[in-house]
Amino acid sequence: MDILRKTGKFTLTTALLIILISADLLLAQQKEERKEVSIGERFHKETSSTWRGVAGEVFRAKPKQPPQYKVYPDANKIELPKPEYKGMTVEEAIKKRRSIRNYSTKPISKAQLSQLLFAAQGVTGKMHGKALRTAPSAGALYPFEIYIIVNNIEDLPRGLYHYSVLDHSLEPVKSGDFRRQITDAGLNQEMLGNAGVTFVLSAIFDRVRYKYGERGYRYVYMEAGHISQNIYLQAVSLGLGSVCVGAFSDEKVNKLIDVDGVKEAVIYLHPVGAL
Ligand SMILES: Cc1cc2nc3c(=O)[nH]c(=O)nc-3n(C[C@H](O)[C@H](O)[C@H](O)COP(=O)(O)O)c2cc1C
Repeated sequence: MDILRKTGKFTLTTALLIILISADLLLAQQKEERKEVSIGERFHKETSSTWRGVAGEVFRAKPKQPPQYKVYPDANKIELPKPEYKGMTVEEAIKKRRSIRNYSTKPISKAQLSQLLFAAQGVTGKMHGKALRTAPSAGALYPFEIYIIVNNIEDLPRGLYHYSVLDHSLEPVKSGDFRRQITDAGLNQEMLGNAGVTFVLSAIFDRVRYKYGERGYRYVYMEAGHISQNIYLQAVSLGLGSVCVGAFSDEKVNKLIDVDGVKEAVIYLHPVGAL
């Protein structure tokens, strides 16, 4: 009897709380709409860790958790040389890092490419049976997939490849010369086509949204920065040049790597070239 009364009270309190929070959220939303806040301001506010932001997440539907790894089952995998752990000090690399947009026509070696891919998303440890990577990731959920557009790499034909993190190998996606296409998609930034290799960082949002809701989008953008800095510093240590590129036609780059731009979308580009 006592339990029933308690349960009844709890249900009533919960219902009242839900009504109050819903009304508050609705009023806040109407107020925001009247104020004509920008989409960016609204995104930031609604994904803030305020009680209103958190309550909003409770009411929003979350997607199902998608698979952790993207695979190309028909691809003939290409093994990469094992990464090595030598080179300049991290202090030196940080000091020397600069955005470099002019590259020579010298090819990049496969060993150098392997090192760059490893720096971007290589596996460096295990926790509860889960592979941990070189760049940090919110909740160790790793939303990023790494594609590369190969232009001038020793013993690797031109084309689009996908990085398979678990076995540190490459999956050829499509062969061909994509220099003109990536330059055009990158708003005519010539270095995208002139580089030995251009990294394409694309994110599968539901990998973080299923846990963190819309705030997960923030985490995706933050993580892109971590991966980018790893590529930058690794390039410096290898004596190569690189620059991160955020200005591009989303539609064109998404089309190039064949993703829908909604569930998975390109976030960052990173050409790397010889000096
Ligand atoms: C989010 C972001 C987007 C960027 N997008 C571009 C870009 O589209 N094209 C470009 O040439 N550089 C781009 N950059 C590189 C900056 O221009 C560069 O970091 C800045 O000029 C400082 O120079 P430094 O990197 O040599 O220190 C971008 C940098 C960031 C952080």
